[in-house]
Amino acid sequence: MATSITINTDIIEGTINRNIYGHFSEHLGRCIYEGIWVGEDSPIPNTNGIRNDVIAALKKLKIPVLRWPGGCFADEYHWKDGVGPQEDRKRMINTHWGGVVENNHFGTHEFLMLCEMLGCEPYISGNVGSGTVQEMSEWVEYMTFDGVSPMAEWRQKNGREKPWSLKYFGVGNENWGCGGNMRPEYYADLYRQFQTYVRNYGDNKVYKIACGPNSDDYRWMEVLMREAHSKMDAISLHYYTVPGKWQNKGAATGFSEEEWFVTLEKALYMDELITKHSAIMDQYDPQKRVGLIVDEWGTWYDVEPGTNPGFLYQQNTVRDALVAGLSLHIFHNHCDRVEMANIAQIVNVLQSVILTEGEKMVLTPTYHVFDMYKVHQDASMLSTNCVSEDYTSGGRNLPKVSVSASKDAEGRMHISLCNLDHKSGAEVHIDLRGLNGRSVRISGTELTSDRMEAHNTFDRPDAVKPSEFKAFSLEGSTLTANLSPMSVTVLELT
Ligand code: AHR
Repeated sequence: MATSITINTDIIEGTINRNIYGHFSEHLGRCIYEGIWVGEDSPIPNTNGIRNDVIAALKKLKIPVLRWPGGCFADEYHWKDGVGPQEDRKRMINTHWGGVVENNHFGTHEFLMLCEMLGCEPYISGNVGSGTVQEMSEWVEYMTFDGVSPMAEWRQKNGREKPWSLKYFGVGNENWGCGGNMRPEYYADLYRQFQTYVRNYGDNKVYKIACGPNSDDYRWMEVLMREAHSKMDAISLHYYTVPGKWQNKGAATGFSEEEWFVTLEKALYMDELITKHSAIMDQYDPQKRVGLIVDEWGTWYDVEPGTNPGFLYQQNTVRDALVAGLSLHIFHNHCDRVEMANIAQIVNVLQSVILTEGEKMVLTPTYHVFDMYKVHQDASMLSTNCVSEDYTSGGRNLPKVSVSASKDAEGRMHISLCNLDHKSGAEVHIDLRGLNGRSVRISGTELTSDRMEAHNTFDRPDAVKPSEFKAFSLEGSTLTANLSPMSVTVLELT
């Protein structure tokens, strides 16, 4: 049996917001310190303290938006500790993540400089859990006010004459958990209060993001939408793919076939979550003005043996590449509601795109998927129908093939395909409806391996990397592709 796909090349179903390809960076483990920030005096080549190798690799991904400073860290972070001369900045304990000393050398100026270097939008999470309304209000004033004000003058004294432009601002993080253990009714009231003082100065218009639910907490979504939807531009959703139980999540490498299957099954659950949360949002916001922002997603495994349990450092295999491909397809399909998604986290934490060790750096399989898929950013999503054969394991079924197709501003069409099956290839027949005999040139790239746990190490950084894909043919308007087992493939039609 083969998989049968129809792509209506002339029917556009929406625009894939480039922010779906967003990232998340927290003061956690070696994400900021070592992974991004090494300081100007480091022997590791850097520009103003930021690693050159990491910046160059990230620039290639065309990262649209970067979230910071947390995560749970956000609701313990007091931004005033992180501005002014670095040697005078307060040292604090990062209580959430490993109890290590945080020297505050990476603060507001450094983060906004990083975003300028990457050419991406900053997305800042404010502190509701342990902060004050005044503190949040003054942070926005510090960053965006152009004129005479105490915060603008302080910013200028600290070396930044002109304000930054700041669009995305989160009012708290996980306030149902590490951000204050609140009930939704209480947080909804706090959200209404705090956001009042998140002001628009001059031309700067802040897009306000309320803290949304954890996974399937539909009551949280219901209460927040009921009580505060008119005062938000978007609401967040957090969902992590954890193959095992929270206390025993499973290893990032050396896992079984069953764990491979369960991981992909759990990644696909994102579709149900978004569908159900969107249905609740539709009751209060049928025009879909309020965006859904999946600002934390990705795999979460047990930490690598011998590493600090509070640092959440994990390896990244072909399994992660498939989780990335599938999740991005799900976000595409919900592009009427999902305006942004931020994979957790950018370097050295959870499902990273980059791992570092001293001066060494490796790109993970997840990096390669983001690189291959960047062609979908801001493209028009094409109407697609997929009748997939089953991928069966232990008596359970998943669709073997997942597909998404888009057309970019230059008229190029891109088709991304995931074959979830770790054992066998997939024959895929794609009816390119609407092509009407137009001749096209096709090229392809695939990411695959012959081992489920294949990954890149500092000794073998290119063990998993994209290669040219040639196993396709076009007859009339039927494109046939033979996908490798456990693979992610992107075809370009020009
Ligand atoms: O990404 C790691 C943590 O997961 C974040 O700090 C928190 O928001 C979530 O629970």
